[in-house]
Amino acid sequence: MKIQSIRGFRDILPPQSGIFASFEAKAREVFARYGYSEIRVPTVEMKELFVKSTGETTDIVEKEMYAFEDAGGRHLALRPEGTPGVVRAYIENNLHAQDPRRKFFYVGSMFRAERPQAGRYREFEQIGMEYFGNAHPAADAESIALLASVLSAAGLTDFRADINSLGCAQCRPVYRQNLIAFLNSRKDALCENCKKRIETNPMRALDCKTDGPELFRTAPAQEFCPGCAEHFAAVQSLLKETGTPFEVNRAVVRGLDYYSRTVFEFRSSAIGAQDAIAGGGRYDALVGSMGGPQVPAIGWALGADRVVSLLEKNAAPQSGPGVFVVSMEEATHRTAFRLLAQLRAAGVCADGGAFAQSMKAQLRAADRCGAKFAVIIGGDEMQKRAAALKNLQTGEQKEIPFDDLPSILKK
Ligand code: HAM
Repeated sequence: MKIQSIRGFRDILPPQSGIFASFEAKAREVFARYGYSEIRVPTVEMKELFVKSTGETTDIVEKEMYAFEDAGGRHLALRPEGTPGVVRAYIENNLHAQDPRRKFFYVGSMFRAERPQAGRYREFEQIGMEYFGNAHPAADAESIALLASVLSAAGLTDFRADINSLGCAQCRPVYRQNLIAFLNSRKDALCENCKKRIETNPMRALDCKTDGPELFRTAPAQEFCPGCAEHFAAVQSLLKETGTPFEVNRAVVRGLDYYSRTVFEFRSSAIGAQDAIAGGGRYDALVGSMGGPQVPAIGWALGADRVVSLLEKNAAPQSGPGVFVVSMEEATHRTAFRLLAQLRAAGVCADGGAFAQSMKAQLRAADRCGAKFAVIIGGDEMQKRAAALKNLQTGEQKEIPFDDLPSILKK
């Protein structure tokens, strides 16, 4: 049997891995500026956690979850999204004890057994945030502005932010009933999925690829209770203060069960069919319903794979090491290797040690990895205790005493 990677799971290789790393680094900088700390939660959790929070009737839990029984007979799952684990950690570690207002970000793999295609993987990376303990619309506006800041800091310009409100436990059930009545009235014209959704998750019909656009035009509009109407108006006015461009889009209903009030999605037209680069929203009832205190919360996650595929289009080629150390013969290997170590210790990006190869082949290796200089050491150089420093772009060569190499190359 030939051992290969599994469909939908992929290797992330250089130079793409470098773009991932620098995107993550930029995101971390922005999170710090907004006062968020990193949280790392497990990749595997009890299956029940996702059934209860993401939602039993969502596609994610119903069809896409990697759920399994371990040797101890426990029902577990690979996390399909980050929010449930962070909420569990918030409750389990009493992170609300001193001050319920806590702000976390995370970076990590999520797993969904979706049909793989460009931009859709079974293991994918999310960068996300969860903001607990602030019911004010300022938290919504901050979250959305933060998402735009992370994407802008990475150099992305071509994205649009769509926001909507789903109402709350007071006004949403009324709308749900109206929508169910409306969907039932035209049940025959609906796709099989939407027929099933009428009772389980009617809002999702508005988001259906087949029926959604038509339903969206004809379905009754949601009416909000005064509290929700006021909240959504305030979110918009505060978001304007941050200078983040956005549009209200009633079709944003999100595919997870825990949302209330504000929801949002960021899309990019430059990316192809899988154009959702990020999504999130407020989930004021989730912490309480999972056994924690009644703490409101809001968060989002972006698909790092999708963002990286956009960044790749304009990425500058990765630069190679500054220096490549070449040793000409057996007797010079140890000194060359020591110099290589000294250069690295001094903070110079240096490579080398390919001593099994001829000098010519070592110089070719230096060129191939994009080094700017070669430090060449042979018998003569050993005697003079000075290396030949060759500029690989111009071919110009200079003699530099061993002791001066680190400081000169550092410059
Ligand atoms: P989500 O909309 O399910 O939200 O996922 C967020 C982002 O993850 C999507 O916009 C997309 O870019 C990326 N994504 C999802 N599935 C895949 C896939 N199969 N391959 C590649 N990228 C994918 C959540 O996960 C919520 N936890 C967000 C949230 C946080 N809400 C509140 N807090």
